[in-house]
Amino acid sequence: MKNIISSQSTSINGSINIPGDKSISHRSLIISSLAIGKTTIKGILKGKDIISSKNALEKMGVIIKEEKDIFIVYGVGSGGLLEPDDVLDLGNSGTSARLLIGLISSHKMIATLTGDDSLRKRPMKRVIDPSEKIGAKIISNNNDKLPLTIFGTNDPLPINYKLSLPSAQVKSSILLAGLQAPGETCIEEVIPSRDHTERMLECFGAKISVNIENSSKKMIRIKGQNELSASNIEVPGDFSSASFFIVAALIVPDSNLYLKNIGINPYRIGLIEILQEMGAKLELLNKSIRNNEPVADIRVYSSDLKGVEVPSEISPKMIDEYPILSIAACMAKGKTILRGLDELRYKESNRLKSIVEMLMQFNVSVKESEDQLLIENKKQIIEGNCTIKTFQDHRIAMSAIIGGLVSKGPVHIDDSSMIETSFPGFIDIINSVGGRVSEK
Ligand code: S3P
Repeated sequence: MKNIISSQSTSINGSINIPGDKSISHRSLIISSLAIGKTTIKGILKGKDIISSKNALEKMGVIIKEEKDIFIVYGVGSGGLLEPDDVLDLGNSGTSARLLIGLISSHKMIATLTGDDSLRKRPMKRVIDPSEKIGAKIISNNNDKLPLTIFGTNDPLPINYKLSLPSAQVKSSILLAGLQAPGETCIEEVIPSRDHTERMLECFGAKISVNIENSSKKMIRIKGQNELSASNIEVPGDFSSASFFIVAALIVPDSNLYLKNIGINPYRIGLIEILQEMGAKLELLNKSIRNNEPVADIRVYSSDLKGVEVPSEISPKMIDEYPILSIAACMAKGKTILRGLDELRYKESNRLKSIVEMLMQFNVSVKESEDQLLIENKKQIIEGNCTIKTFQDHRIAMSAIIGGLVSKGPVHIDDSSMIETSFPGFIDIINSVGGRVSEK
């Protein structure tokens, strides 16, 4: 347990870089492992979740070296992963687990996957179902959760799969399995989710096509058994990590913050749309495209925010940002209603419950009904002098710290250790721009 105290700050000012995008970092390691030749990855996130993917790939025969801040991956080629001689422990990382279940399913090997207390409670049926259609057999004695053993197939089938959930992890799991299958694997997406896998596969020369047929039908097709070639990847800053700083600068008075080189994939930045509707003064500058991904700098100024209704349709584009949006809602005038939050129950903690408990400690009125939250803070002030339980969830810990920056009394955070999974250096960066966060 690592106790932290966050106290009221006078302003958030400066120019910062944010660590690499977590989703893109996982994909850069996994996809380069399947390519022929040597891939270099610059700006990769060195959070614990990414190290979980790296360790698992190394146990399956991939050589990954680190030189200064660059990762060098010597890919084994399509279908070339080896059976691990040990259990693959994926720590807290849901993305590692879900993506690797698909990938391992289409390799002839037996592998057992496990994770920490939180990961062993998260649903895996969503990726077990398509993996079994492809031809793998997966056994779990824990209600289709980790630990589980995959009996991968030597003859993976190309499948047609309609995604019932807007989940990038499920989509990516199927695409990675499809790389080893003969013929065309076809995925129908009803509600689109982040498309980092599709974009990166294209960079590595995969035969992938994406067609938007109408507003409720996107078809993604991949032709398997086609070798990928190595590439040079630069990972942009993580928008989800940046969002804590964006909200900090919006709600702390007299702030002016510049965030450099942030990924602005259109399926990730729903929060920008919502914050602008709330009255946020922010600008996207120096837009460019790198490795098929849009990137920009973001300038943010303190703003008077007002409550809004956030419709459920936007939730896949901001699924990880609800904890920090709830902090912005605490400082907004009027009611904020968040809809379509069901998936939050299956994250690193039950985030619906974790958000409600955090706001109650902040003395903010919050009502939960089905998959909705109604947040209203008539005083537009956080009282503080409270302890926030993070439920071992990195995004709750970082959101509570940002809440502390605008609290009258200090905010204690019971355990900040999970921040290391996605954002090493978070506290140093927040303090470098005017935060007042210290270890107890
Ligand atoms: C991720 C997808 C999202 C997100 C997670 C990372 C990814 O999960 O919550 O933090 O890298 O594909 P779902 O795909 O389950 O919504």
